[in-house]
Amino acid sequence: MTYNIAVAGKGGVGKTSLTGLLIDTLVKQKKDPILVVDADANCNLYEVLGSEEPETIGHIREVANMTEKNGDSFPGGMTKAQFLQWQLSMILEEGDGYDMLVMGRSEGEGCYCFVNGILKQQVQKISDHYKYVITDNEAGMEHISRKLTKHVDTLILVSDCAKRSIQAVARIRDLAKEMNLSVGKIGLIVNKAPNGELSNGVKEEIEKYGLDLFGVVPSDELIYEYDSEGIPLVKLPADSKSRVALEKIIETLDLP
Ligand SMILES: Nc1ncnc2c1ncn2[C@@H]1O[C@H](COP(=O)(O)OP(=O)(O)OP(=O)(O)O)[C@@H](O)[C@H]1O
Ligand SMILES: [Mg+2]
Repeated sequence: MTYNIAVAGKGGVGKTSLTGLLIDTLVKQKKDPILVVDADANCNLYEVLGSEEPETIGHIREVANMTEKNGDSFPGGMTKAQFLQWQLSMILEEGDGYDMLVMGRSEGEGCYCFVNGILKQQVQKISDHYKYVITDNEAGMEHISRKLTKHVDTLILVSDCAKRSIQAVARIRDLAKEMNLSVGKIGLIVNKAPNGELSNGVKEEIEKYGLDLFGVVPSDELIYEYDSEGIPLVKLPADSKSRVALEKIIETLDLP
């Protein structure tokens, strides 16, 4: 059985950073193969993972559209649909212990939904081959309605210490319920907490919204340093405080 994990939250709270470190931890625990899905149009998970810039579904679609528009023929006399299918079958970016599918963006009207639709089809087609499917979502909550997998085993909500960031994840949780999304468990990771501690205000906010707290990840100068130097976060040392905190949280998640 494939275990699905999705990560969601407001913009800039650290979803992609934590998703990358989570993937790295699972790979090191030999919990592979993992299908990594970057469902953010502004895809940057590959940077955290230190992998090559991936080919995106949005780009493939763009190439197909341009070819058609220019009246050029597709290679080997393929139809546009055949060409798309062929490119999609080759798009899986292979990393160490994980493969990656990246949505990316595409120009034109209604393209976002279209590209997302293709991503969804691909994920559903291949996810059975993987032990885990881990999805990094874009900010906000619209994506919740474009569910990529039929069931999410663990939905990780990420916030920072701002009240509105906690309110945002509470709304995502409520929306998931309203839409009858099939979710195993939903919990919150508060990221970038000064000294890894929550203020009373933040604790009250979490309680007010009845959020289940998975744990707290401290604000880590090393993350700042690595990101400002363009060093992939997966290279963070094992004893860096963000990694230590995240690994403790992962233990409590009881992943298969
Ligand atoms: N624990 C942390 N300590 C310090 N800085 C952090 C921490 N986690 C993330 N950051 C910083 O926060 C910024 C945003 O991180 P990230 O891109 O992971 O957020 P995101 O939620 O995925 O953003 P987006 O909504 O744009 O996708 C980055 O500059 C990153 O370096
Ligand atoms: Mg992100």
